[in-house]
Amino acid sequence: MDDQYRTWIRDIPDFPKQGILFRDITPLLGNGSVYREAIRTLADKVEEWKPELVVGPEARGYVVGAPLAVTLGLGFVPVRKPGKLPYKTVSVEYALEYGTDRLEIHEDAVRPGQRVVLADDLLATGGTMRATMDLVEKLGGVVVGAAFLIELKQLGGRDRLGDIPVYTLVQFDD
Ligand code: PRP
Ligand code: MG
Repeated sequence: MDDQYRTWIRDIPDFPKQGILFRDITPLLGNGSVYREAIRTLADKVEEWKPELVVGPEARGYVVGAPLAVTLGLGFVPVRKPGKLPYKTVSVEYALEYGTDRLEIHEDAVRPGQRVVLADDLLATGGTMRATMDLVEKLGGVVVGAAFLIELKQLGGRDRLGDIPVYTLVQFDD
């Protein structure tokens, strides 16, 4: 099954810059039955963790997190880049390859003790998801796991997420 999804991910050499091999999920997203089956597979796994809410970072996290939430009958909470959310926010800074960036969440988006699953398209260094996890924990939420379409294993993102369960649909070793 993993191999079936793999064929819907396109390799783009030297994007966005020389030496980077970009794993492009737009072919998977563009096929209704493959996209639906991918989300269902994530949902079947994530359900075991008994989540009450899905949280995902903009922008690509929304194409995984929102349909996952709908499939599970749960609410979806957007995490956004600075200045985009209209209500009161909490924020965390996180490291990029060069410099830092910030992510924000509405301060009332997660109830203390609420069981939260995190969702994004890609687990690379784990920096984005670590920051998303920190936001949820700042609000008192309990992160019960994280789900992704793709994992780039060599970047070790899993190790940055502590001991929560992490499920990825397709893994790349190179
Ligand atoms: C990409 C991807 C993940 C993140 C993974 O997002 O969608 O969110 O990088 O990398 P990491 O594990 O090293 O943090 P990007 O920041 O490019 O923004 P986008 O989703 O808005 O395109
Ligand atoms: Mg992203």
